[in-house]
Amino acid sequence: MEYITLNNGIKMPVLGYGVYQIPNTQTKECVLEALEVGYRLIDTAQYYGNERGVGDAIKASGIPRDEIFITTKLKSNHNVERLINQSLSDLQTDYIDLLLIHWVMGNDLATWRIMENAVHSGKVHAIGLSNFYGSAYDNIVKNAEILPAVNQIEHHVLRQNKSFHKILDKTETILEAWAPFGEGKAGLFTNPVIAKIASTYGKTTAQIMLCFYLQSGIVAIPKSIHKARMIENFDIFDFKLAEDDMKAIEELNQERDLFGWY
Ligand SMILES: NC(=O)c1ccc[n+]([C@@H]2O[C@H](COP(=O)([O-])OP(=O)(O)OC[C@H]3O[C@@H](n4cnc5c(N)ncnc54)[C@H](OP(=O)(O)O)[C@@H]3O)[C@@H](O)[C@H]2O)c1
Repeated sequence: MEYITLNNGIKMPVLGYGVYQIPNTQTKECVLEALEVGYRLIDTAQYYGNERGVGDAIKASGIPRDEIFITTKLKSNHNVERLINQSLSDLQTDYIDLLLIHWVMGNDLATWRIMENAVHSGKVHAIGLSNFYGSAYDNIVKNAEILPAVNQIEHHVLRQNKSFHKILDKTETILEAWAPFGEGKAGLFTNPVIAKIASTYGKTTAQIMLCFYLQSGIVAIPKSIHKARMIENFDIFDFKLAEDDMKAIEELNQERDLFGWY
């Protein structure tokens, strides 16, 4: 596994495993498989309702806690301290590696202050945002005691967040790509440009997309419930894309929102 250093000095794996839309009852098995494959970053959220499954898997894996990086996300701006404690309890851990505000909820600066306190008390090691853009993002950055380590946003080859990525770079805030395959929408797995590149490297389109993010300094958290795909998505550390292939994929960008959420 390769790691990226966050703006607070903490190391985070450059590739993670996302568990959105995996029922809690199936999560333990999936996360156990992902850990077996070699994933060490697990991305969950209070809203997903599967933190307990993640915690069960980590416990059952026997892997030392400090070798696994857990990200979770706040589902509300009410009772934030209680929500953090609930996540700790469900994840069955003493600390959360990275806690994000899941989306702009209002009173975000007040939420941020409570998250900063959670860092000071050791319950959380790093804090960040998700789906924060424009003034909502600026408001946190301008007033933060602790700058956001990460902003997790919709990011795939059709939405490359070119100008926003530069803004994030100013505070060394890592862009983390949710839906790195756009959940397969818009024919991303069969895109002819990516498929042509994939055939020259003897790789799949999924692997080419993930490698593209890696080489752009972006952390990706693909989800799959199939072990063969977990393996495929993890097998990206043995090749590098040439500059002209990077450029060809960059040219696919349309800054196109595939979900209509943010
Ligand atoms: N912060 C946010 O607001 C937010 C929003 C959405 C997602 N996320 C996070 O980002 C993670 C990833 O996003 P996502 O799950 O929405 O979408 P995604 O990772 O772009 O796509 C997942 C879909 O692609 C399929 N897939 C995975 N690997 C494949 C491969 N190698 N070949 C063909 N199909 C493949 C999966 O099917 P199978 O499972 O059937 O294999 C699933 O249908 C989530 O799990 C979650 O942790 C965060």
